[in-house]
Amino acid sequence: ALERTFSIVKPDAVAKNLIGAIYSRFEAAGLRIVAAKMLHLSREQAEGFYAEHKERPFFNALVSFMTSGPVMVQVLEGEDAVRKNREIMGATNPKDALAGTLRADFAASIDENAVHGSDAAASAAREIAYFFTDAELCSRTR
Ligand code: CMP
Repeated sequence: ALERTFSIVKPDAVAKNLIGAIYSRFEAAGLRIVAAKMLHLSREQAEGFYAEHKERPFFNALVSFMTSGPVMVQVLEGEDAVRKNREIMGATNPKDALAGTLRADFAASIDENAVHGSDAAASAAREIAYFFTDAELCSRTR
């Protein structure tokens, strides 16, 4: 089905000048960028976004990293967008990521792993709404 998913180009990938290379992978796979902006997340924004990980041992490191520099946040739209984006990204830990995926090609570690992508349709809806209003989505379906 035609879906939307939420994506972040993380501070490591922005610092390495990889925004365009990553966007090209999305587009080559048939996903459209229907909203995007550059943000330098505040601690509050990062903690709120990752609230589900609050009790995890890596939470503080995650928030520190995600606020260490600017990110790009975007909404991707296309057939099966959630699953397709996860396939493009590869496994969370770049050591486990298949060759040719974003994490295999661009990520240094599980902490600095280049991109975030929603893991399911429900989290996609929540994550999109966390950063974008409906009016900011230049979707082909509206
Ligand atoms: P992301 O998809 O942004 O969601 C949470 C992030 O926490 C994850 O990518 C990783 O970059 C980071 N992280 C660090 N350690 C772990 C871990 N052990 N398991 C899952 N995520 C981790």
